[in-house]
Amino acid sequence: MAALLEVIGLAKQFGGVQAVKDLTFAVGEGEIVALIGPNGAGKTTAFSLIAGALRPDAGQIRFRGRPIVGLSPHAICALGVARTFQIVRPFPRLTVLRNVMVGALLRHPEVQDATAHARAVLDEVGLAGKRDQPAGGLTLAERKRLELARALATGPALLLLDEVMAGLNATEIERLIELIRAINRRGVTVLLIEHVMRAVMTVSGRVVVLSGGQLIAEGPPSRVANDPVVIEAYLGEPDSGDIAR
Ligand SMILES: Nc1ncnc2c1ncn2[C@@H]1O[C@H](COP(=O)(O)OP(=O)(O)OP(=O)(O)O)[C@@H](O)[C@H]1O
Ligand SMILES: [Mg+2]
Repeated sequence: MAALLEVIGLAKQFGGVQAVKDLTFAVGEGEIVALIGPNGAGKTTAFSLIAGALRPDAGQIRFRGRPIVGLSPHAICALGVARTFQIVRPFPRLTVLRNVMVGALLRHPEVQDATAHARAVLDEVGLAGKRDQPAGGLTLAERKRLELARALATGPALLLLDEVMAGLNATEIERLIELIRAINRRGVTVLLIEHVMRAVMTVSGRVVVLSGGQLIAEGPPSRVANDPVVIEAYLGEPDSGDIAR
C-alpha cells in the first residue's frame, strides 16, 4: 500500500510542554486509521502540524511523497488534505449551504458550481433538509455533520477527523460510522482522532496510539486495545480494565 501521508520524527513544543515528540507513522492510500490516546497526548497538535496550522520544531511530513512542512494551510488543503476541528466552528449566521460553499469554492471557483457541489455534499452527509437554515441553529449532531461536510467539500484525498463523534448518542454514532465508511469506500483516506472506542474498534483498520506526545503502540484495533502499555497509558496503571469508555 503506497503511503499517502508520512510523518517522520515530528516534534512540537509549547513553552515547557513537549506536545509531540519524535512522532513517526504513515497512512496508506485507502486506509481508515484511528489516532487515539489520553487527553493531552498530542493528537490535535499532530493534526495541526499535518494541516499546516502549526509549524513543527523538527521532523518532516510528506503527502504523496511531497514535503509539506512550511506550506500554508490553504496550500496543504489544495493538495488534498482537509481537517475538521475538535471545537466545531461554523459561521453561525450563514446558512448551512453557504458554510459548505466556503469549502466547495476551493475546487469550484464558479459560484454556481460551488453551490451544486455543496448541495451534493449536504446530500451525502444527510443535511440536505437543513440547507437553508442558519448553521447556528443546528443540533450538536448536525453541527458535527456540517463540520464534516465543510471538510469534504474541499475534495480531499485525506480527511483528518478530530473527535467528530464526541457528545453524540449511540444512534448518531452508528450513523456517523456508516457515513465515514461510505466516504472511505469512494476513495477518501481517513485519519481520525477518536475517544469513542466502539467507533475506533469498528471503523478503523489500524490504530496509532499517542501518549505524552509519543507513539506508544500501533496495530490492529483488537491488538492495541489489549496492549498493556496502552491500557496503562489510559488508566495510569496496568490491568485495571480496558480502555473503552
Ligand atoms: N496552542 C497551545 N499552546 C500551549 N499549549 C498547547 C497548545 N496546544 C496544545 N497544547 C498542549 O499540548 C499538549 C497536547 O495537546 P493536544 O490538544 O494536542 O492534545 P490531544 O491529544 O488532542 O488532547 P484531547 O484528547 O484532550 O483533545 C497538552 O498538554 C496541551 O495543553
Ligand atoms: Mg484534541
